[in-house]
Amino acid sequence: MSRRLGILLSGRGSNFVAIADAIAAGKLDANIAVVISNRDDAPGLEIARQRGFAAIALPSQGITRDVFDTCVAAELDLHRVDLVCLAGYLRVLSPAFIARFPQRILNIHPSLLPAFPGLHSQAQALTYGVRYAGCTVHFVDEGLDSGPIIQQAVVPVLDGDTEDTLSARILKEEHRIYSAAIGRVLTGNLRIDGRRVVESIPD
Ligand code: GRF
Repeated sequence: MSRRLGILLSGRGSNFVAIADAIAAGKLDANIAVVISNRDDAPGLEIARQRGFAAIALPSQGITRDVFDTCVAAELDLHRVDLVCLAGYLRVLSPAFIARFPQRILNIHPSLLPAFPGLHSQAQALTYGVRYAGCTVHFVDEGLDSGPIIQQAVVPVLDGDTEDTLSARILKEEHRIYSAAIGRVLTGNLRIDGRRVVESIPD
């Protein structure tokens, strides 16, 4: 049976759209069970509604992180989500939330982690002067962009690059590897060995 994804986003949602497109194209065997945002004006939420997905805004103002995350987890449970995919979700998750979905929360980050965690990673890469940048899909742990790495893609940094041109080159790769990484996780053949994500081929 096809596994159920819960997407958490705060912004334009292009990674969510890429995942939805991969599913629609038969490249990823999964369903999007619900899309949740902490911002009711997130463009990604509107796109989700237009595409007929359950789309929920849960404003976070005035409540604690724990209470907010409990509400998000309740929605994910209600929609029987197997895997939580962060897609431009601009919130730090509470330890209780992470513990509730062990090794079942993924994130996409626009750098070759562990380089340039946090915000504005593409600008950080340009300023630092690296010749190669990229993106990372990783399991979420309690640290900042620090969980075990599932998949990465590399792009060159070109001399004329601006933050926008580099971000666009990286984003194209994000859209490719996020669905691929979700598919690999859903096979159930990945295990975490220390910090390493190892693929074991079933007999
Ligand atoms: C992406 O660059 C992603 O790596 C980062 O936030 C951005 C979200 O973009 N976590 P989108 O909302 O999926 O278009």
